[in-house]
Order: sequence, then C-alpha cells, then structure tokens
Amino acid sequence: MIHVLIEREAIAARVAELAREIQRDTPGGGPVHLVAVLKGAFVFLADLLRTFDVPVTCDFMAVSSYGAGQVSSGVVRLTKDLDHDLAGRDVVLVEDIVDSGATLAYLQGLLRARNPRSLRTVCLLDKRSKRRVPVEIDYVGFVIEDRFVVGYGLDANERYRELPFIGVPEEEAEQ
Ligand code: PRP
Repeated sequence: MIHVLIEREAIAARVAELAREIQRDTPGGGPVHLVAVLKGAFVFLADLLRTFDVPVTCDFMAVSSYGAGQVSSGVVRLTKDLDHDLAGRDVVLVEDIVDSGATLAYLQGLLRARNPRSLRTVCLLDKRSKRRVPVEIDYVGFVIEDRFVVGYGLDANERYRELPFIGVPEEEAEQ
C-alpha cells in the first residue's frame, strides 16, 4: 500500500508552472536543452518537455552512487554520458529528487565544464533537510520532508516508477 503524498493533478499543475518559469527566464525564446538524469527523472522530463511553448531538445545521462539501498553514499560515478555537446546551449539539468546534494553537485560541475551558454537546474522534489553538499537549485517543484518516496519515476528497488503520483510506502508512512 502506498500513501499518496502529492496527487497527480498537483504534480501536473506544478510542472506546468516550472516550464513557464524556465521559458520566461530563457534568453531569446529558446531552444532550451534539457538534460535529464536517468532513471528517476525520465517521467518528470517527459511531462515537463511537453508543456513548453518554446523549442526544446533533450539528452540523457546516467550516474550511480556507490553503495545500494536508500542512503546515498556521496560518491558518484558517470555510467552514461550525453550524446550531444553543450557548448553555447541554454542547458537545464532535470533531476527528480535532491537529497544529500552529492549527485547534483557532481553533475553541475561536470556540465559547467562543458561551456554551456547558461546552466540552470530544475528538481521536482527537494529533501533539503538532508542536504550535506550545498547546491544551488534554480527551480524547485516541492520541498518535502525526509520520507522515502516512490512514484512518478522514483523507485524502491526498481518498483513503483509507474505510479502517477508521489507516495510513501506503508511501512514508511507508519513511522
Ligand atoms: C536519485 C536522484 C538523484 C539522487 C539524489 O537517484 O535521481 O540522482 O538520487 O540523491 P543525492 O542528492 O543524495 O545525491 P537514484 O540513486 O535513486 O537512482 P535512479 O534515479 O536511477 O532511481
């Protein structure tokens, strides 16, 4: 049983607002180059990209943090690089959730070194009480408490990514 934390309608409304803010801040009306981090961000990216009115392109990268389970180890490794160059592009890094900040800090450094024209970050969920590495996030969907969340791309051992809402598994919700 999964307890709903953020309903699909609330997610859709917030995603549309985020897209509006991103394109409002984009010089010259785009294109906006969205870079998503697999796997969790693919659902957020798919919805975000379809609400833009300006031209959008996208690319994917994958990272893994050493160590299994729900706690991030803080050591990040690139497992799939981008297909396209970032030089001169207005890049928006798309993350599903920022927890310790270790992954985002690593990715922002990596992308910035590739000389995009601009680099901004959007994350759907910000678990800011868990931050260990300070990071700047330009657009935040929802600030959430320190709960283990699934759905809308986020998994528990690869399950629940398909849920249209963000929820808390029952064993966590009871705590
Ligand atoms: C999540 C999320 C971030 C990272 C955030 O990915 O997509 O990449 O954790 O954690 P941090 O702020 O503590 O570094 P996850 O490891 O769950 O992989 P997945 O997206 O493939 O499910």
